Amino acid sequence: MSVQAMPRDYSLTGVTERAVPLDDFDIESRMDGVWWKPTLPRQEMRAFMERTDGPALVHFGLWFVLLAASAAWAVSAWGTWWAIPAFLIYGTIYSSSDARWHECGHGTPFRTQWLNELFYHISSFLTLREAYMWRWSHSRHHTDTYFVGLDPEIQVQRPADLLKIVMDFLYLRSGPPEVWRVVRNAFGRPGPDVRHFVPESERNKMYWSSRVYVAIIVGFAIWSIAIWSFLPMMFVLLPRFYGGWLHQLLGLTQHAGLGEDTHDHRENTRTVFVNPVYRYLYMNMNYHIEHHSVPMVPYHALGRFHEAVKDQMPPAYPNLWAVYKEMIPALIKQATEDASYQIMRPIPTEQGKSAEVESVAAATADSEWIEVCPVGALEENDVVRVDHGGRFFAVCRLEGDAYHATDGLCTHEYADLTDGIVFDGVIECPLHNGRFDIVSGDAVRSPACGSLQTYPVEVRGDSIFLRVRA
Ligand code: FES
Repeated sequence: MSVQAMPRDYSLTGVTERAVPLDDFDIESRMDGVWWKPTLPRQEMRAFMERTDGPALVHFGLWFVLLAASAAWAVSAWGTWWAIPAFLIYGTIYSSSDARWHECGHGTPFRTQWLNELFYHISSFLTLREAYMWRWSHSRHHTDTYFVGLDPEIQVQRPADLLKIVMDFLYLRSGPPEVWRVVRNAFGRPGPDVRHFVPESERNKMYWSSRVYVAIIVGFAIWSIAIWSFLPMMFVLLPRFYGGWLHQLLGLTQHAGLGEDTHDHRENTRTVFVNPVYRYLYMNMNYHIEHHSVPMVPYHALGRFHEAVKDQMPPAYPNLWAVYKEMIPALIKQATEDASYQIMRPIPTEQGKSAEVESVAAATADSEWIEVCPVGALEENDVVRVDHGGRFFAVCRLEGDAYHATDGLCTHEYADLTDGIVFDGVIECPLHNGRFDIVSGDAVRSPACGSLQTYPVEVRGDSIFLRVRA
């Protein structure tokens, strides 16, 4: 006999047995080494996280060509039956801006940061996710993936709302509230959920960005009215609705029907193989366990990364049909019979432990200067963790044999920066891809805001020494 579970309160301001304030001071213990991570040697992991501009320039160039070509076909077909397939293709490509928003939000497709930011803002507008608000929302999603009362991006809540799921193939249930959020933000009146996860310091940017979105959309609406034709609106805003089917088809596979309130992405997230066209439009987000486990791996490396860590994960679903065949009955069961029901994934028992950065415990704890490691043990563009006096430090070697040290804890949410990646003079946080200038300690990429303390480092003979007082 099934047991009818109580509906859970998914609002960020609601109270559940798991919910805690987002500014709670116990977050360090929740974050520190809690999430499961695949085990790989540090050098191998670094290779997967490597950044270049080339693949993304080709990828985005092709995407804009496809968007422009389908738009040109749609314009020329307007008024004929050919307009239906033309707009369907245009709308589908347009809505795949959501995957581009997501990837650029992590800052991983391009090595050059301004390119990530440029394409992030363009695709945020296209997919109707206001850039500043969603950057913070998505950070929260990665901190507390599918924790009820903490994650603002739980797509399918329990009991599952089947009508909403179906309507969102045309973005009809989630789209209007999203438009309303942009309008509210444009008027400087964010809702309680938005106030909950967007810091005060970021809200002005969010308001102005929302105003730009509204101005563009109103401009297209006025144009449509002036020429008494829907045509202009068919190219902005509306494509996110009439072309949203693929986004929903693929997006549902990420987490729907799986576990809640677990710190193991293998229990709340899926990896599924899809065809190359979908993979291109979706920017490889079908490798979703891999993405959540190590968000620093760029989209183009996720397939290779999957091959390296697949033995530590539940088997990937062979295709979309395999996912939906399991997921649809599960969601119906959640909707009609047992809201607490969830799909259980087989997790390999030989899990290994989290990928570890080599950590150095200071031997000479009574001195201000402590020996870190031999020079040869730290490669260019890499970092080593040094534990001393109950704290830990990130000692980095940059190009040209420049050695620097900072605090090891990220100032945003207390992630271990030595699990991150070093390139171009910055260290990137493994949790939300925030970045810090290694020489100055300054935060140079959101959501990291506060600066890191820096510490002197010297090479003496064959060894690296760190002074543990600034
Ligand atoms: S914990 Fe969020 S950027 Fe480091």
